Amino acid sequence: MRASAIAHKDFVIGQIDPRLYGSFIEHLGRAIYTGIFEPDHPTADDNGMRQDVIDLVRELDVPVVRYPGGNFVSAFYWEDSIGPVEERPTRLDLAWHSSESNKVGIHEFAEWADAAGTEMMLAVNLGSRGLDPARNFLEYVNHPGGSYWSDLRKKNGREEPWGVKMWCLGNEMDGPWQTGQKTADEYGRIAFETAKAMRAYDKSLELVVCGSSTPTMPSYPQWEATVLDHTYDVVDYISLHMYFDNPKGDTADYLAQTARLDAYICTVAGVIQFIKSKKRSKKDVYISFDEWNVWYHSREQDRKILEGNSGWPHAPALLEDIYNFEDVLQVGCILNTFIRHADVVKIGCLAQLVNVIAPIMTVEGGPAWRQTTFYPFLFASKYGRGTSLNLAMDCPGYDTDVAKNVPYLDVAAVQSEADGALTVFVVNRHQTDAIEFDLALEGFGERSVTMDKEIVGHDLRATNGPDGEPVAPVDGAGAIVAGGRLSASIAPLSYRMFRLGV
Ligand code: AHR
Repeated sequence: MRASAIAHKDFVIGQIDPRLYGSFIEHLGRAIYTGIFEPDHPTADDNGMRQDVIDLVRELDVPVVRYPGGNFVSAFYWEDSIGPVEERPTRLDLAWHSSESNKVGIHEFAEWADAAGTEMMLAVNLGSRGLDPARNFLEYVNHPGGSYWSDLRKKNGREEPWGVKMWCLGNEMDGPWQTGQKTADEYGRIAFETAKAMRAYDKSLELVVCGSSTPTMPSYPQWEATVLDHTYDVVDYISLHMYFDNPKGDTADYLAQTARLDAYICTVAGVIQFIKSKKRSKKDVYISFDEWNVWYHSREQDRKILEGNSGWPHAPALLEDIYNFEDVLQVGCILNTFIRHADVVKIGCLAQLVNVIAPIMTVEGGPAWRQTTFYPFLFASKYGRGTSLNLAMDCPGYDTDVAKNVPYLDVAAVQSEADGALTVFVVNRHQTDAIEFDLALEGFGERSVTMDKEIVGHDLRATNGPDGEPVAPVDGAGAIVAGGRLSASIAPLSYRMFRLGV
């Protein structure tokens, strides 16, 4: 089977915002406690943070981490998480049926973010609370001093403000599972007033308003239109969330789901344009895809805790999906989809980062290890920065219940400004056939293959674990650039990345 594509250096989709490769850490399960924070761990730093985890986060080079939730934020009292640790209250977390000790709060997380080389993206509670706690939190975090909340921050040991730019106005406010769920009009109003107040403090903030929790919500996409109608003038991004399941255990169907992701992004981009035109606005609003991942492996085992049959445990194992090789292909296709929409999707947050539906896992008192999906994310984060190119693709496809004519090859290309390299990410969805791929390179000058990596040849259910990481990249072979064309044979069910250097 054959597929061909043309890349032209001036045929551009858009500039990729590095924050497309962000992530998310919530007070949920073992993300914080025994995830990033474990004071008794042999690698713990002076703040009790696991250095082995920080090293892996640094390896992924995550530019931004959303915090502290997620569903958790919708009943969160941020004031509980500051001041002397021994005086902080333990609260019941309704979202995850757990106890929250507040031993890690904004100060501790900010120190961690600094050590991990990432920026914080903070969410305010618009579920059980509203405008006042949100503006107070902003003052606490960002004001230099001379006011009640900023002076309290100083008293609590942090002289300099953190200067957080990105703020999420609540989380998944359309969801029946959310504490303080709202209608689109109710939410639109509170989000508008909160954004107005936050902007009255600092016009340069980047504010994210909640879109639908997922495209299967009954209110989607009217929700986006109503919420943006209220808030268009005061926000910069609308958030989208999507998790991928494999309900039929059918690989062809599973890997076709990025067609739904594509439609979701296109629809919301259309809604943004509709409201922009309706308001005769010159301003742009972009998409913050601030929760995405595969999430289904752990659903059954979490049921007992989430249905409240285990009391209120502190940091129980929850959402600990163990990813397999099939998920590598899915994550590769998801990242390619984001790259192809780089003109409108500016922020992305892999949900989540540690232990909870995460690329990084930890053993309490033991090692940290890389899940299978660590690698496609690593490659995209490391080599997927620059300009996204619009490829003219010609590739055979297949039909499933999910979508028609799903191309066997999922391809994205990025031109790096930093070193001039052209990076091509390819997933072959075909289950039995290699595909002979021919990519015409126009306007790039002399090129050669400077890196060729693939993840290939594993059982679809193969996983990694603390004792070994067999599902990992290896060097690809046989790719050549000649006469201005890249030619390579892409193995069935494989993830591949080429870098074509100058
Ligand atoms: O990431 C796990 C949960 O998924 C988040 O808390 C919530 O926002 C979403 O439903």
